[in-house]
Amino acid sequence: MIQVGAPSVAPTVLNPMLTHPVPIRRVIWENDDTFTLTLDLDDALPEYRFLPGQFNMLYVYGMGEVAISISSDPSRKGTLDHTIHRVGSVTTALAHKKRGDVIGLRGPFGSTWPVDAARGKDVCIATGGIGLAPLRPVIFSILRERDQFGRVIVMYGGRSALDLLYRVELEKWENENQVEALVTVGRGDTSWKGHIGVVTTLFSHIKLDTRNTVAFVCGPEVMMKYTVDELENRGLSQDQVYLSMERNMKCAVGFCGHCQMGPTFICKEGPVYPLPKIRHLLDRKEL
Ligand SMILES: Cc1cc2nc3c(=O)[nH]c(=O)nc-3n(C[C@H](O)[C@H](O)[C@H](O)COP(=O)(O)OP(=O)(O)OC[C@H]3O[C@@H](n4cnc5c(N)ncnc54)[C@H](O)[C@@H]3O)c2cc1C
Ligand code: FES
Repeated sequence: MIQVGAPSVAPTVLNPMLTHPVPIRRVIWENDDTFTLTLDLDDALPEYRFLPGQFNMLYVYGMGEVAISISSDPSRKGTLDHTIHRVGSVTTALAHKKRGDVIGLRGPFGSTWPVDAARGKDVCIATGGIGLAPLRPVIFSILRERDQFGRVIVMYGGRSALDLLYRVELEKWENENQVEALVTVGRGDTSWKGHIGVVTTLFSHIKLDTRNTVAFVCGPEVMMKYTVDELENRGLSQDQVYLSMERNMKCAVGFCGHCQMGPTFICKEGPVYPLPKIRHLLDRKEL
């Protein structure tokens, strides 16, 4: 089995309890309720480094803190992207922030997608909704050394065409033959000429080399469960599959227990898990 979190480059180790004030350099609205915050690290944290799959705790002063995956290119220095879906109090407060405003950052936290260990193999990325955000750094990392990897298949589903993230980027990578992108939406409209249906319906449009493929899966839990079933049905063994899990987080350092999922604390052992570690938990209705 590929070792999760065994990267060739180490992420920065900062005091995990210390919140660093960082200014916002840019806010880009991806769609009606999702936006990407670019943080300016030049003065605040010039040495900050992370690895694909890791997350930060973002703090809105006086309001609260939320776990958000890092969505930018790990090799880019000086700035950091987080793509955020507005769902509740803190994410809505973040949505009101603008260039120059300062928020707090703790991190980076968590395990990583085993990108280094996937060299020489085909990589199948299956994702839904905001789940593409924590996988975007994987794609950037692979593209930097594209000849080191086999096929890169991105299967991505959104509720509607308007909900899809990073569309221009995905199209560019596909046009350059860097990735095979298969995109589907739950609800099509007259302008949508692509696939309609859930992410798993895309499997009928590709053929996987099951012995030489590593799959990275991230999205709503129900989507991940059916995607894993499909990957197994197609012949991938459990040790070829990795998932990123999500739970409400508070401390991010293994103290509070908010992120517990069965026997594991996602902030400590996750969010990226090899499937064998959590396969038995996916079939349970309530965790
Ligand atoms: C490791 C990790 C990485 C994440 N990465 C991202 C990311 O890249 N982009 C992003 O938009 N979000 C991400 N999230 C989810 C994000 O942390 C929550 O959406 C956020 O905490 C909601 O805070 P809020 O104050 O806005 O909402 P609240 O007011 O706290 O809650 C609004 C509603 O959302 C529910 N909720 C809150 N947190 C979660 C959660 N984690 N999972 C499911 N339901 C929840 C609440 O029960 C409530 O129903 C990530 C979570 C984890 C654990
Ligand atoms: S968030 Fe507190 S233990 Fe994981």
